[in-house]
Amino acid sequence: MTNDSIATVRWVGDALSGFLRLIDQTRLPTESVELDCRELSAVWEAIRSLRVRGAPAIGVAAAYGAVLGARSEGWLDVAAVRRALGAATEYLRTSRPTAVNLFWALDRMDAAAAEAHRDGASALERLLEEARRIDEEDRAMCRAIGRHGAALVAPGQGILTHCNAGGLATADYGTALAVIFAAFEQGTPLHVFADETRPLLQGARLTAWELKRRGIPVTLICDNMAAQVMKEGKVQMVIVGADRIAANGDTANKIGTYGVALLARAHGLPFYVAAPSSTFDRAIPDGAAIPIEQRDPREVTHGFGRQTAPEGVDVYNPAFDVTPAELIAGIITEKGVIRPVNAQTISEVLGSR
Ligand code: MRU
Repeated sequence: MTNDSIATVRWVGDALSGFLRLIDQTRLPTESVELDCRELSAVWEAIRSLRVRGAPAIGVAAAYGAVLGARSEGWLDVAAVRRALGAATEYLRTSRPTAVNLFWALDRMDAAAAEAHRDGASALERLLEEARRIDEEDRAMCRAIGRHGAALVAPGQGILTHCNAGGLATADYGTALAVIFAAFEQGTPLHVFADETRPLLQGARLTAWELKRRGIPVTLICDNMAAQVMKEGKVQMVIVGADRIAANGDTANKIGTYGVALLARAHGLPFYVAAPSSTFDRAIPDGAAIPIEQRDPREVTHGFGRQTAPEGVDVYNPAFDVTPAELIAGIITEKGVIRPVNAQTISEVLGSR
């Protein structure tokens, strides 16, 4: 059992010669392998293929990736660094479409590049400083989410979660799992039911791994068991993370989340979302405008090395779905719990912009 942080994403060395080191999450839970990214393309590939995944972790990785890209034309002059950074952020924006943290982090990197800089080297140093700030701020936001959310957990509760919104999905500590970690650390007895989360099994491979590692009681279930678990009275609340939250509170998260929210409503259970302010996209009025990533059909037909469907069958593989705000009991942010969930309460807790 350990409460130690997980080094999901970190920068090693200085701005001019350092690199990004991340945990290759595709190898978990059987192997703990780190991947060193020294080129921009390696970071793009790591995000695209879910070696690093989870909305906040994608944002942090992309920010460090932008530093790698920014020095691809050398650092003799500021213009070259700015040009390379602009190309790098544009490229990284194409890695995955749904998690808004990616775009939020890259906007910050673009803004940092646009500031006045003495020379190319100091521009690069400033870019690394901005990426580190994004990383540090995420750590702080996750801890605050844990503190605000822990009060919602009553002793002895069963909590259902979907996908992985833990330390692996953030710079550290998580969002939905932060609430669980914080409650457990305060001595609140609880039991987690983790949906395995088809097709890529983030719940089975990552959430169950994180909870077991911290000694938190966890039972793994297949996604299609959630209704039965609720009916049997084994869970009293649901907590999930988010990839993008629209201005009215409609929330995109891992495919299957919407179904879990409907089940929670049918069983009279509160359904909570935990997310930092960096996951809100208030330029989008509601969930209909959230872009939903479509992924390779082979994730469904050939998961983890074995063919499980007939050759050539048609497959639909959206990676996310949108849960309407009216199904969400509250959104746990670093600034407090938004409850009930609507455009006005979001502005009240997060500020008007
Ligand atoms: O496809 P993934 O694994 O990146 O999807 C991750 C999720 O849906 C998480 O629930 C979400 O990003 C929140 S992470 C704190």
